[in-house]
Amino acid sequence: MVQSWYINEHSNEDLRSERHFNPPRFLNSEQLRLNSGVTHYNLDTENYEKDGILEEIKKRHECVYFDIVENCPEKNPDCIKNLQRFYEEHLHPEEEVRFILDGSAYFDVRDKEDKWIRIKVEKGDLIILPPGVYHRFTLGYSKSIRIMRLYKHPKWTAFNRCADEHPSRQLYMERAANGFA
Ligand code: LAC
Ligand code: NI
Repeated sequence: MVQSWYINEHSNEDLRSERHFNPPRFLNSEQLRLNSGVTHYNLDTENYEKDGILEEIKKRHECVYFDIVENCPEKNPDCIKNLQRFYEEHLHPEEEVRFILDGSAYFDVRDKEDKWIRIKVEKGDLIILPPGVYHRFTLGYSKSIRIMRLYKHPKWTAFNRCADEHPSRQLYMERAANGFA
């Protein structure tokens, strides 16, 4: 199940570690949604092809394209470059919909006040980042992750920060002010 917490940016800990405040500042699902617009589901990785839940999510979020990628630096050193790119703060004009088939990782997202939230995703989690949210992705200390990426359009575009002028960013700020209703 997804866990999320505010990152202590002054922590001396390694960037790959959890980087908690003392005491930790966890968010429940509703706080995560209200503060960042991120939502998530938990799916059965053995049965998702039959139980219809993924189909329903795909319909609701208009995802008609997908691919499955594995990031495992030990097996495939080439993926290190991709991982470095994913750790750069960026946004997308579309929702980022990701279903974790195996392994674990962190999605870091900026909340509506620009504070970092670290979201730990594990096997079975399906996470939806809203358009225009600044975020980054890292394996942390995890060795690998296998992810299904779901898209509305075949071409996936990313804009590194600063992309404040992008229409999706402006929409994000408006939605944040309305509690992501
Ligand atoms: C992406 C993730 C990793 O844009 O943020 O694919
Ligand atoms: Ni992204």
